Amino acid sequence: MTDYLLHPDLVVELLHAPGDPRVAKLVARAEAGADGLWLPVAAMSYMRDSLAAVLGGEDAARQAAGRLRDFADHCTWLGAPAGDGDFVDADDPLRRQLEAGLDRLGPGACLVRLAGDAQRSVGIDELVSTTPREAPVPFIDLPYQQRRIRKQVEEGLFRVLAHGRYIGGPEIESLEERLSRFAGVRHAIAVSNGTDALLIALMAAGVRAGDEVVTSPFTFAATGEMIHLLGARPVYVDIDPVTYNLDPDGIEAVLTDRTRAILPVSIFGQCADMQAINAVAAARGIPVIEDGAQSFGATQRERRSCGLSSIGCTSFFPSKPLGGYGDSGACFSDDDELAAIMRQVRDHGQGGRYHHVRIGINGRMSSFQASVLLAKLELLDEEIELRGRVAARYDRLFAERAGALDPDRLVVPRVADGNTSVYAQYSLLVRGRDAVQARLTELGIPSAVHYPVPLNRQPAMADPDCHVPVCEDVSARVLSIPMHPYLGEVAQRRIVDGVIEAVKAA
Ligand SMILES: Cc1ncc(COP(=O)(O)O)c(C=O)c1O
Repeated sequence: MTDYLLHPDLVVELLHAPGDPRVAKLVARAEAGADGLWLPVAAMSYMRDSLAAVLGGEDAARQAAGRLRDFADHCTWLGAPAGDGDFVDADDPLRRQLEAGLDRLGPGACLVRLAGDAQRSVGIDELVSTTPREAPVPFIDLPYQQRRIRKQVEEGLFRVLAHGRYIGGPEIESLEERLSRFAGVRHAIAVSNGTDALLIALMAAGVRAGDEVVTSPFTFAATGEMIHLLGARPVYVDIDPVTYNLDPDGIEAVLTDRTRAILPVSIFGQCADMQAINAVAAARGIPVIEDGAQSFGATQRERRSCGLSSIGCTSFFPSKPLGGYGDSGACFSDDDELAAIMRQVRDHGQGGRYHHVRIGINGRMSSFQASVLLAKLELLDEEIELRGRVAARYDRLFAERAGALDPDRLVVPRVADGNTSVYAQYSLLVRGRDAVQARLTELGIPSAVHYPVPLNRQPAMADPDCHVPVCEDVSARVLSIPMHPYLGEVAQRRIVDGVIEAVKAA
């Protein structure tokens, strides 16, 4: 993907006569996701007024605004930060602003003019006569998503700059209200990241040194790490071979007097069997904390992840289904008392200002982060639906193209009855993973391993007595391929063909 900043004089030239074929070509490139088209907002009135002047006539101003607005629908306005005011003394302030804008878009960005005459600029005729460079397939496509919501993101960030309540600003309250409604629970507590969400939840559940917490060994380190941090011991139970989530049937056997909580992880975007896990926990009178870092937006029997147990925790790490621009996370609960405790733990255990009623942490979310998440929430429902479509297309393409391949050599993800997945990852099981991955890299197809070593074998939290054969097997074969809401069919065919070729050769 290349970012093109359109020179204001070019825009006037392109829009003054209706139906200039170069406009359609530019728009087609942008719609295909090949190019990002940017308009300098600092030159907006210049473009509109110049266009009106060349159009002439009574209705020129309205027509000029209409044409510019229609064209801008396919572009993103590039904002001018306050620093551009420094160019007021320059011989040609517009040129300096365009140069600065290009710098902000990054080293690959290019200015489009009537004729390319300088470094980092290209003439319009040359641009529309070349086919867009075939972009490498990204593992996830955050830049495309950012262009869709750039306006809302910038508005939110500027609002925080204006009110200056960088911690605990009004964005936090709005976000918590929106998140709790989305998850279908009474309380959402915005926190600094998904790891702290787990720590806060465990502390609120009263987990302390010497306690045991039953959890999954097939997860990101944070899950086991936060249990250890409190001096408690993770007790790993093997995973279900279909969903790769904690197998409820294994829990009963490991419960002891010291078991203080059960912490299932909803891996890759679908929930663990929360009904069965809740039943085991209820019989013992202990809480269930769902690690929903990868499953925010998924459902189980029509109810949303993070609202299925005593406490839900999630992460808004940038690559998550709902990701911010930095670290953040949230805790969820329907229990008023647990929620009140989690709010205190988030803020140094304060019951009132400088009145510390329990040990806590600094687990607060920044107002900037909340403003980004508020903008991103606008896309979440649509993106969940798009993720589902991308996954269904992968399923179909693998079914159509795998042919006589031994099903054991390539397993596609499966979603359990009653679950929907948000496909934080689309993770396969393959035989000969290293060779498969190496071939995919040669073919320009990114892949990742989530996670190669179960927690019970991580040096920092090893548990030599732990026996989790399903997890060991899945860890040795799992391979995630590109997954994001905007992945198109052409790229998916390339990926699927590449995977099948690599698996056959491995
Ligand atoms: C399952 C799981 N739990 C916890 C976390 C921790 O979240 P964060 O990175 O926001 O601290 C992650 C993040 O990758 C995760 O995938």
